[in-house]
Amino acid sequence: MSIALIVLAAGQGSRMQSDRPKVLHEVAHAPLLVHAMMAGASLDPERTVIVAGHGGDAVEAAATAHDPDAVVVRQTEQLGTAHAVAQARAALAGFEGDAIVLYGDTPFIRPETLQAMIGARRDGAGVVVLGFEAAEPGRYGRLVAEGDRLERIVEAKDATSEELAITLCNSGVVCAEASILFDLIDQVGSDNAAGEYYLTDIVGLARAARMSARVVTCPEAETMGVNTRMDLAAAEAAFQARARLAAMENGATLTAPETVQFAHDTHLGRDVVIEPHVVFGPGVTIESDATIRAFSHLEGCHVSEGCVVGPYSRLRPGAELDRGVRIGNFVEVKAATVHEGAKINHLSYVGDAEIGARANIGAGTITCNYDGVFKHRTAIGADAFIGSNTMLVAPVTVGAEALTASGSVVTEDVPDGALALGRAKQVNKAGLARRLMAKLRAAKEAR
Ligand code: UD1
Ligand code: MG
Repeated sequence: MSIALIVLAAGQGSRMQSDRPKVLHEVAHAPLLVHAMMAGASLDPERTVIVAGHGGDAVEAAATAHDPDAVVVRQTEQLGTAHAVAQARAALAGFEGDAIVLYGDTPFIRPETLQAMIGARRDGAGVVVLGFEAAEPGRYGRLVAEGDRLERIVEAKDATSEELAITLCNSGVVCAEASILFDLIDQVGSDNAAGEYYLTDIVGLARAARMSARVVTCPEAETMGVNTRMDLAAAEAAFQARARLAAMENGATLTAPETVQFAHDTHLGRDVVIEPHVVFGPGVTIESDATIRAFSHLEGCHVSEGCVVGPYSRLRPGAELDRGVRIGNFVEVKAATVHEGAKINHLSYVGDAEIGARANIGAGTITCNYDGVFKHRTAIGADAFIGSNTMLVAPVTVGAEALTASGSVVTEDVPDGALALGRAKQVNKAGLARRLMAKLRAAKEAR
């Protein structure tokens, strides 16, 4: 059966106190909306429709950046969740199959849970709602059900005290055949405490039309929504806790897991060791047997087998480390390929560069890649030895097995096997140090 995904993302999220639409706030470096889209993508939907409103242009940009096939429709006035879903109707013209509604501010619904809902539909349920046992039911809609047979949903604002005592609550995720979903939505009115078109009303309407409605349940943690900055921090913490566990379950050693921050797409191979206080930005892959030592920051980079990075290293986008590379303390690497076995161990900046196999980059080396307007490349050959404190003024090439003298400012290409000396020649003046100091001390006495 074909699936269409409808993600509601029109709300402002006023409690975030933000100029940014709520669904674009990030957990693990991905917008909340993208987390919801990723959860839905596990169902391999034929169509994905995002209902945007507040900050619609920014929401559209983020949605289509993640999935160019996603269709973004606009809900210009936020008249309620049923009204929001109705905006997806035109985008789903001609679609036959099930529609599943997710919220853009609810990032952690698991694929297994969505599968269970699809399973309930296959078993013949007309409308399937995802519910959970709420520790504090508060403002959630209450599911009036017997076992898994759902009768109706009542919003907290409209509930009697008896109904408020129900702890089985509505997550907001709903699944039904698309044409039936839109038929039911057509019948939804706004005669309620909020004066809104409630999506939740479709359950009572379905039952009145003798259709069956079922509730599928999941742990409350999955339905965690984000309304405030505190919720956002809690969502981040929940994500990180799961990511750390998953990393260890998949064979990585985390010596102090609670201090490591992952991104939504961090990939770790087997027997990787991550020391304390390592931060992963988006787009990082660490291959097996690599070690990331303490206090390192990595983003948009690829670290191959057996590399050792850190402590205190920074790998920026485009850093590509071949096998067995060593990157040491206070070294920054950006848009640079470092070939097998090369070493950059101390206090260096290597950007827009290619470092040959087994090359040794001495302490304090800098690729001077930026002239204030353009970026230029530095190429260093295999087995080259770059002396400490070499300034490589790009564009520049240092050949294989070449050597640069410490403190050199290298502005011209160095041929293979050559020694480049680019610094003032040393001159020693006999006895001058002692004479100079004596003069200064005498001057101090005379004051
Ligand atoms: C909704 C449910 C409630 C459920 C709760 C779970 C309804 C009527 N109520 O309540 O039963 O327990 O979610 O969190 O559905 N949105 C739009 N356009 C609108 C209104 C909402 O896009 O016109 C989006 C919001 O941006 C949000 C989602 O729909 O992502 C839910 O809306 P929200 O206002 O948070 O609904 P709740 O009152 O929390
Ligand atoms: Mg809400």
